[in-house]
Amino acid sequence: MVRVPVKVGSAKFVIICVGLLGFAVVANFLWASSSSTLTSKPATLVIPKSHNNASSGRFLSAAYADLDAPQLRWQKMAAAPVPRLDGAAIQIRNLLFVFAGYGTIDFVHSHVDVYNFTDNTWGGRFDMPKEMAHSHLGMVTDGRYIYVVTGQYGPQCRGPTARTFVLDTETKQWRDLPPLPLPRYAPATQLWRGRLHVMGGSKENRHTPGLEHWSLAVKDGKALENEWRSEIPIPRGGPHRACVVVDDRLYVIGGQEGDFMAKPGSPIFKCSRRQEVVYTDVYMLDDKMKWKMLPPMPKPNSHIEFAWALVNNSIVIVGGTTEKHPVTKKMVLNGEVVQFNLNTLKWSVIGKLPYRVKTTLVGFWNGWLYFTSGQRDKGPEDPSPKKVIGEMWRTKLKLNE
Ligand SMILES: *[C@@H]1O[C@H](CO)[C@@H](O)[C@H](O)[C@H]1NC(C)=O
Ligand SMILES: *[C@@H]1O[C@H](CO)[C@@H](O)[C@H](O)[C@H]1NC(C)=O
Ligand SMILES: *[C@@H]1O[C@H](CO)[C@@H](O)[C@H](O)[C@H]1NC(C)=O
Repeated sequence: MVRVPVKVGSAKFVIICVGLLGFAVVANFLWASSSSTLTSKPATLVIPKSHNNASSGRFLSAAYADLDAPQLRWQKMAAAPVPRLDGAAIQIRNLLFVFAGYGTIDFVHSHVDVYNFTDNTWGGRFDMPKEMAHSHLGMVTDGRYIYVVTGQYGPQCRGPTARTFVLDTETKQWRDLPPLPLPRYAPATQLWRGRLHVMGGSKENRHTPGLEHWSLAVKDGKALENEWRSEIPIPRGGPHRACVVVDDRLYVIGGQEGDFMAKPGSPIFKCSRRQEVVYTDVYMLDDKMKWKMLPPMPKPNSHIEFAWALVNNSIVIVGGTTEKHPVTKKMVLNGEVVQFNLNTLKWSVIGKLPYRVKTTLVGFWNGWLYFTSGQRDKGPEDPSPKKVIGEMWRTKLKLNE
């Protein structure tokens, strides 16, 4: 919160606040009316009753609140062999490759599980290289090779590695790529115009947002250069964003500034909570190589780097985490499926999840939207994170035209 020392400033500040508030309500209303065809009743600001409390005498930002969303019919499928938080996933045709992640805060996975969408089974487990990071990975595929960039090495809030690898999914062989110039946590990562692009993320201390953007020419799982090239920095840094290339444009969606850090002097690098700002920002890069801002997400959303699928020129995002609760200060998870239509550049909320959940791993196959893994809420009344899960769910995807 901005502190303004003089009275004149305070008056101005109040006016600005009221102005922003007005804007937020209007923006929400506009968004709501654009998605009203799928919602059974007009969407409005939904503030949980327990906080809609006149005696508290405060207006509470609705950033953390559940959005009104149509019910979906979810089918529970076979659970993943292990639960995962902050895992990574890549879909190649009918296979979802699911990597790494925390099993608990003190234990990280070092293998890959594979889900087969054709017969809806898990199998084909294989190991990752010993030197590969275990969470906060940047990851992208060209349809055969999976590029795996930097990330956190080890459990709790340990340091990052710059080591970068490529997996040939046909032979299950791993190879090295030149390490990223500096290690990062959960940077936005994509293949674009023959180059592997890596941008943002958190810096080496896990908390400070990085703005740097690098690229490396790659082809068929090989680096064509020995060094990464500096590219135009991203206007806002931070980890846990969705990064998607469609129709020769690169999109970076949501994310946050700040993250848990290792407690100073802790021999186990024990995670300790720090200030975080979750945002709604959407950035786009096209052939002019200048960042452009696009319409923001319906609410702040982070931990969505592998929580999206691209279907019929829409980006569909499943769950995530939003701003902390302003009163309880607890973390708040998201329980919605949202759609960003790239034809109209409009956001809409297209469904409710079985529960609120972050770091979901998402796939789309044969009309079905799948998600697995992540960390779910404490229950319908408490959106703060609790159980790390391996559950797999699917629903027939119905997009908002
Ligand atoms: C309203 O807020 C007050 C003060 O925070 C609290 O004591 C009271 O229980 C709240 N009432 C309801 C209905 O939530
Ligand atoms: C996926 O399942 C289908 C149907 O059982 C099977 O034909 C195919 O070989 C499986 N793919 C892999 C990679 O296991
Ligand atoms: C995508 O578009 C195709 C062709 O128009 C249509 O048949 C299909 O139902 C659409 N998929 C979804 C999920 O809307």
